[in-house]
Amino acid sequence: MKIVLLGYMGSGKSTIGASLARHLAMDFMDLDDYISQREGKSINEIFAQRGVIYFRKIEALCLRTLIAEPSDMVIALGGGTPVYGDNMNFLKETSKVTTCYLKLPIDILTQRLWESKATRPLISDINNIEELEEFIRKHLFERVFVYQGADHVVVSKNQSPKELVQVIAELLNQ
Ligand code: S3P
Repeated sequence: MKIVLLGYMGSGKSTIGASLARHLAMDFMDLDDYISQREGKSINEIFAQRGVIYFRKIEALCLRTLIAEPSDMVIALGGGTPVYGDNMNFLKETSKVTTCYLKLPIDILTQRLWESKATRPLISDINNIEELEEFIRKHLFERVFVYQGADHVVVSKNQSPKELVQVIAELLNQ
């Protein structure tokens, strides 16, 4: 079985995914890390040197490679992964794949992304927090219809990562 976490940048997919995998004694893979390792470059470098179209192509390829692995695994997607190409349909049509959307309020996403924007090529050039919030609001509006198509939606507000892992594990009956 593959448990796939999706959601906007900063929603905690990697942190929660790693912790969920430990809880379920499964392997964990972060799709961005996998892409980075494969390319021998950071995500920022891939965007800067090869461009966004190349990144989306490799992202779709790496997603399919990971899903084809025989082992059970928790996978954290990149924020854009389900939105591009046929990736969401591919996940929905592949057996033994369960998708879970980590849904966070815009104010929490804004705060978190303001603190970590340097490593995120889509927002690294935004230099004030109001502008960042506006960007997130519009971007999320475009993406949320895809995210909401996940098998499960987990609304994250003030829970600790441990509590969230518990909620997800229960949702998945694990
Ligand atoms: C992206 C999100 C990033 C990374 C890339 C593009 C996006 O992943 O894949 O910068 O389009 O939302 P995280 O959601 O892990 O930051």
